[in-house]
Amino acid sequence: MQGEVLTAAKFDVDEIRKQFPVLSQKVYGKPLIYFDNAATSQKPLSVIHTITDYYSNYNANIHRGVHFLSQKASDAYDHVRVKVKEFINAAAQEEIIFTGGATDSINLVAYTWGRKFINEGDEIIISTLEHHSNIVPWQMLCEEKNAVLKVIPINDAGELMLDGLRKLLSAKTRFVAVSHTSNSLGTINPVDEIVDIVRKHAESIQHDIPVLIDAAQAMIHENIDVQKSDFDFVCFSSHKMLGPTGTGVLYGKTSRLSQMPPWRGGGDMISSVSFEKTTYNDIPYRFEAGTPHIAGVIGLGAAIDFLNNMDRKAALQHELLLTRHAQHVLSGIAGVKLIGTAAHKASVVSFIIDGVNAMDAGMYLDTQGIAVRTGHHCTEPLMHRFNIPGTIRASFSFYNTLHEVNILGEAVKKAIAFLKR
Ligand code: ALA
Repeated sequence: MQGEVLTAAKFDVDEIRKQFPVLSQKVYGKPLIYFDNAATSQKPLSVIHTITDYYSNYNANIHRGVHFLSQKASDAYDHVRVKVKEFINAAAQEEIIFTGGATDSINLVAYTWGRKFINEGDEIIISTLEHHSNIVPWQMLCEEKNAVLKVIPINDAGELMLDGLRKLLSAKTRFVAVSHTSNSLGTINPVDEIVDIVRKHAESIQHDIPVLIDAAQAMIHENIDVQKSDFDFVCFSSHKMLGPTGTGVLYGKTSRLSQMPPWRGGGDMISSVSFEKTTYNDIPYRFEAGTPHIAGVIGLGAAIDFLNNMDRKAALQHELLLTRHAQHVLSGIAGVKLIGTAAHKASVVSFIIDGVNAMDAGMYLDTQGIAVRTGHHCTEPLMHRFNIPGTIRASFSFYNTLHEVNILGEAVKKAIAFLKR
């Protein structure tokens, strides 16, 4: 996208906004401006109606009943697995595991792959940009196994330093887990290059090194092709890509998943159970114990349909236009400093204001009807890297407008005047 002429001309934001009922309300008498899309996206009518339809017309448990409703619910649920497979171009639907979200997916891999294959002294590499959900599960694993966690450094723009990665790779490297897109700064990481570097290193030490990509922030914006990029594992959440909360996906190559032991025991993940011995189901069911979030998965299917039916390239261009405009507007305000100015960046603009507490600024913006997130954004080590307690984060979606960004700029000026009085 870098260097391309950006234009929103072909993208009809007003039409798109009609699909998102939550956006048309007022808060404190002011039109809602929703700039907290990195925390969760809003939901289109098609997703809301799909979930309502499930509960109104064919609510039943899946894979357990011979009756009509159970068959219908099972078909709808199973069909979403195929939709997800196609959306990310997985090789087989068995490679799609439904989980509770990206956090759950990462924990699944750390718990199963990690506990089986990581041993004392082994090294796991993550990056400075990671969300706590891609730090803590690996820390817990390292603590248990006496393994070592290493961290890829970033530069002052918030970009990963690939030379830093090269230096961290060693004969003991056994796993690499990095985010595709930073939730705090919006940096888009060179994930294909990272895979390439890791593969070459793995070959040189003649040891397998799987790569996990946390794509929670990326999935709504980017086209992810897991085969083309040769990712081993990809984790993402439904709620950040127009779908409901409580649902997510773990993609894993068949060769990886089939080596992994189950983690949660219960119904559906077994092949047979006796008090003497239990045998486990095949992938993907082996990792889906208990009644899943059926409505969530069916809603995720509707979200994928929505994304597939829109002009995603135009949507991305529109988001980049909003981002560049916000960077321009905010950096022109005295006292404002942008945190995270990567050349390759998603629609997240993080900033601090000299002499103004981020949370106070966020609360002031709220009174103006503007929803932003403030604080460390579940990336405390990243905030330490910049020596700040937190930022004010405006994160945009394709349903936001340039007008809203201008209002943010004016509101930030007012916040500074009010809070510095
Ligand atoms: N990970 C979400 C965020 O960045 C909650 O706000």
